[in-house]
Formats: sequence, structure tokens, C-alpha cells
Amino acid sequence: MRPTQRATSGATGGRRHESVKRAERRRLTKAKLMSTAAILGCALAAGCGTSSSTTSSGNGETVVTPSMATNPKGSVTWCIGRDTTGAFSQVVGLYNRSHPGVHVRLLELSTSADQQRARLEQLEQAKSPQCDVLGIDVIWTAEFTAQGWLRDVTPAIQARAAQFIPSTLATTKIDGRYWAVPFNTNAGLLYYNKSKIHTAPTTWQQAYQMAKQGGGIAYQGRQYEGLTVDFLELLYSDHGSVLSPDGKKATIDSPQGRQVLAFMQQGIRTRAAPPAVLTYMEEESRNAFQTGKVALLRNWPYVYAQAKRAHMPFGVEPLPTFSGGRPASVLGGYNLGISSYSRNPGAALSFINFATAPAAQKKFFIASSLPAVITQVYSYPAVTEAQPFAGPLLRAVENGIPRPVTPLYPQISQAIYNNVYSALANDTSPQKALANAQTQITAVLERY
Ligand code: GLC
Repeated sequence: MRPTQRATSGATGGRRHESVKRAERRRLTKAKLMSTAAILGCALAAGCGTSSSTTSSGNGETVVTPSMATNPKGSVTWCIGRDTTGAFSQVVGLYNRSHPGVHVRLLELSTSADQQRARLEQLEQAKSPQCDVLGIDVIWTAEFTAQGWLRDVTPAIQARAAQFIPSTLATTKIDGRYWAVPFNTNAGLLYYNKSKIHTAPTTWQQAYQMAKQGGGIAYQGRQYEGLTVDFLELLYSDHGSVLSPDGKKATIDSPQGRQVLAFMQQGIRTRAAPPAVLTYMEEESRNAFQTGKVALLRNWPYVYAQAKRAHMPFGVEPLPTFSGGRPASVLGGYNLGISSYSRNPGAALSFINFATAPAAQKKFFIASSLPAVITQVYSYPAVTEAQPFAGPLLRAVENGIPRPVTPLYPQISQAIYNNVYSALANDTSPQKALANAQTQITAVLERY
């Protein structure tokens, strides 16, 4: 999609008839979807998305340049998921205190990644100027870019591209242009309650065995994005995949897929994972761990700061492997994009620059264990002291495996989590669940 055309359908203009614009948007989206099909090919490889081809930046109207962020004024609204770590309000407070001419307001969305996306989609489809800065999960960047909802921030990133963890930065790059700035990265960790488990398990099989004997394991088993991630962590470790290397075929219905799903289903049947995990997102599973309902927990690094504050005896390790498999982390995190409909892109960029600079990143990584996106921050002594897992976490993120990089990702993920959930809830067999997921993903791929 050309930024020139994106501007016409954005806040800056639009004298043409609405239906013409809609038709144009559909055409552009389709073109983008098709060009993004090429990206699907590298979807399963780390470092994917770093294509060096460049796209014209059009007339510059939607390109936000670094100079626009000097002397910022007015108000900026940052829309992002619930501030469960406290990091978002910390950053907003720091920015507002040091920038008297601007007022940044935090607008918190749901804790569920899917509901956050649904709300942002509604606002952007309505061309609402309400959100200037969009907190977008790394997996939505392709879709939001294809829809023309993000401004091009290439010049702002280029000035400092070397600072970012490369895998994380790659999630913001589509067709050679940057459409958002990395804000926090993520990789799953395994927490264990030291009063119940004395040595950390190194395989998922051991983890479930220990869980069966000593108090259970929790993860994010609700029917939403978190379940896709948790399933993929085991699948990727077992050398399974979602799509073929060229991105054209679904490959989820495989011996590895069936093995992993049967293992997870068995985990619930034997009560190694309490059936309540089927209602858990991140926070519910963290609470189950902190209140002693379970002895092991798969969750993100933010839990570290919270469990420490709760003074519980716990240990944390990189994720186990699926027996005989490879270490595998699914790359998570959030990027900050500037809405095409923002009326204050300059101040929005000023805020984003601040929130993603080493100083702010260091502060929130220390206070909330929300992982920084700047490589150097991981070697600051104050950081390694506060977050002893910083080194292994950086390696997990650097080697993190992306979820398929495509504007179609939301539909692909729904096909995964709906069917995985059915098997875990014992409504269907792993065989049928994966055959269904395969059919549904194939239908999504064929639609475009
Ligand atoms: C975390 C991750 C994000 C992922 C989500 C799933 O917020 O950073 O990438 O999609 O969890 O619940």
C-alpha cells in the first residue's frame, strides 16, 4: 500500500467518494496481502522480515520524520493492553514530567491480546483519531500495515536501528519499510515453586511428571492467542511447523503436531495441569502460581518482578524442550505504531522515542521485568542484578521463532487455538483437531 494513497484515505484528506476509497483500500489491501505472501516464506525462520528491498515512501505525508518530534506539543493518547506490570504508567509519568508541553494519556484496553486487537481494529476501521500511539502485538504488525493503519516510521528507526535486538526489530519491517518501533520483547519462561520442586525440569515431559506428583502446572489455556503461543512452544521444540517454508501450505497436521497435542491433552486428563487452565490467560495463571495452586508455571518474564514482590520461594529457567527436541521460544512482544488517523504524529513520535530509548527501557525492565528491546540494556549491571535471567532471556529472544508473518495471521491463529482448545477440553481427538486446523488454515490461505 502506498503511503500517498494511505494519506488520502486518512485524516488528511478524502474528498473522493467513500465507496471509491473503499474499493481502492480493498485493492491495496489485496495487493499488500499478495506481496506479503512472499514474506510467508520466511515466516518460520528467525530473522524473517528483514528484506532489504525498499518501497517508495510516496509523498512523505504519512512518513513520520525525526524532525517532527522536536518541540512536541499538545496531547497524545497511547492505546495498549491493560497495564498489568505498571510499566506503561511508569513510562507515561516519566515522559509527562520531562515534557511540559505535551500530555500523554494512557488508554488501557483488555488484558486479552485478541480483544485488544478487536478494539484497535474497530477504532482504525472507523478512522478514529482517538489513539495516536497504538500498542500492537508483534503478530499484528503485518495486518495493521496492510490495512494502512500505521504511518511509516522508517527514518526514525534508521537513525537507531543498530540499538535494537535484531529479531525484535524484524517484526516491524514489511517490504523494506519500518511501520512501528519495538517497545517490549518477550519469550516464555518456566517458573517453579521451590518449596515443592527442587530441581528445574529440562524437558516438558519431566515438567508434567513433576507436576503430576507435586501440585500441577499452569499455562494459558483459554481460547485466545496465548494458547496458540503455548502450543507452538512445544510444537516448535518438537520440530513441527504451522506453514511450509514457502508459506503456501498448512503443515500443522503432522506427526509432531499430533504428538504434542496428545501430550497436552493427556496433561489435563491426568490432572498434571488442572482443568482450570482452560480458563486461564496470563494473569489467572500467575495468580494460580503465586497462591500455591500450582507448582510450575509457563508465563512471560513480567511474572518475575511480581512473584518476587510476593516474597515466594521460586526459581525460573528458560523453557524446557519437548523430549528429544530443540530449545524453542515463540517471539512475543509489542511494537508502538503511529496511527494513520493521529492528529499529532510528531508528539506521538517524541513519546515513542522516549519510551524506547535505553534510559526508559532500563527503568521499566528493572521495575517490572518487562523485557527491553535494546540489546545493550541486558548488560547493564543494575539490570542483571534485578533480573538474573537477563542473559538467557536475551538469547531466547535473539533466537525466538516468529509466529507466521502475514496479515492473515489472526485467522490462522484462531484456527490453531480453537482446535487445540477443543482437544484440551476433550471435545475432540488430537487427530481430528489438527485435521480441522489444517483445513481451516488452508481455507484462509486459499482465500487470498
Ligand atoms: C504477550 C506477548 C504477545 C503474545 C501474548 C499472548 O503479551 O508479548 O506477543 O501474543 O502475550 O497472550
